[in-house]
Amino acid sequence: MSGPEAEAAASTPASRLTLTVNGTRHAVTVDNRTSLLDLLREHLGLTGSKKGCNAGACGACTVLVDGRRQNSCLILAVRLDGAEVTTIEGIADGDDLHALQQAFIDQDAFQCGYCTPGQIVSGIACIQEGHTQSPEEIREWMSGNICRCGCYPKIVRAVQQAAGRK
Ligand code: FES
Ligand code: FES
Repeated sequence: MSGPEAEAAASTPASRLTLTVNGTRHAVTVDNRTSLLDLLREHLGLTGSKKGCNAGACGACTVLVDGRRQNSCLILAVRLDGAEVTTIEGIADGDDLHALQQAFIDQDAFQCGYCTPGQIVSGIACIQEGHTQSPEEIREWMSGNICRCGCYPKIVRAVQQAAGRK
């Protein structure tokens, strides 16, 4: 690269940050415009979190940031210095699936699977938040996660199962 392109690349603001992802500390230097989703997928090789809309509308990119569910496509990585991030890759205990992963299998709660990582991470938070008193409540609190295959009834049943209500 040379000329104006090289100059532009050299002048792109970048920042160094340290964050913990699934229990592993990472020190990275990123272009300030990098989203958490791109940091995970492009820099750390964690491709479980999916890029659906890249605009906060589908939930395919859902991860936990300091225990709270977030659309990782909407968060700038540079804001996360010192944060603890959990992705779909970090929720099983070795070979033991998380209860909600197992429930998705038991309830056959996916078809193409593209939305599934986000659904499961969001479902874990939904259970932790206590929003599982009824199918209606689960639907409401999972409404930020879109499933184009239309697996919603089974997803609700999976969340109920993992919450111990089914
Ligand atoms: Fe982030 Fe759709 S990819 S909400
Ligand atoms: Fe295909 Fe949800 S299983 S989008």
